[in-house]
Amino acid sequence: MVVKNIAVLFSGSGSNLQAILEKIHNKIFNGVKIKVALLICNNPNAKGIKRAKKFGLETIVINHRDYDSREEFDQALVDEIKKHDIDLSVLAGFMRILTPVFTDNIKAINLHPSILPLFKGANAINESYNSDMKIGGVSVHWVSSQLDSGEIIAQKSFARKHKSLKEWEEKIHKIEHKLLPKTIIEILAKGK
Ligand code: GAR
Repeated sequence: MVVKNIAVLFSGSGSNLQAILEKIHNKIFNGVKIKVALLICNNPNAKGIKRAKKFGLETIVINHRDYDSREEFDQALVDEIKKHDIDLSVLAGFMRILTPVFTDNIKAINLHPSILPLFKGANAINESYNSDMKIGGVSVHWVSSQLDSGEIIAQKSFARKHKSLKEWEEKIHKIEHKLLPKTIIEILAKGK
C-alpha cells in the first residue's frame, strides 16, 4: 500500500482541518492511503488544536511571536516539516505571509476564499462580498514566493443572489470543505 503523508498548517478555527480529517485522513483513494502525519499551528489558542485532539492528533505549536524575523519563523516550519516524511503541505487557514525560506523548500498548496487573482490577502471574504461581483468563490493554488499568486489548481464559484455577509461566508466555507479535500486527493492519488 502506498502511503502519502500530508502536513496541515492552520492558525485559527480549523474547520478545513476538520474536513480533511473527516474526509481523507487514513482513507484509501485509488490505492493510495492519505495520512495527516503532521499538524502545525502558529497560534497556541487556536480552536483547531482542540478539533485535532478529538481525532487523537497532537498539534505542534510554532508561535511566530517567538521569532525575531519571518525568515527565522519560516526556517522553524521547514525544519519541522523536513523531520517528517511529508509528501505535501497544506495551508488550511494558515494566516502568515511566507518568505522564500519556506516557499523555496516546501511543496505546498494554499486554500483561499476568493476567485484568485481577485481579493488576495487576509480579508478576501469581506472584500469580495463588498465588491460588485455577481459571484464569489474559492481557490486552491500552489504556494509560491508571491502572496496568493502561485498556479491555480482548483476553483469553484457561486452566485451572489441576495446573500447576506453571513450567508456569503457560510457558502464559502461549505465549498472549501469539499474543494480542499478533493484537490488533495487529486494531487496525491490521481497524479494531477
Ligand atoms: C478559510 O476561509 C480560508 O480560505 C482562509 O481562512 C479560513 C480558515 O478557516 N484563508 C485565507 O484567508 C488565506 N489568505 P478555518 O480555520 O475554519 O479552516
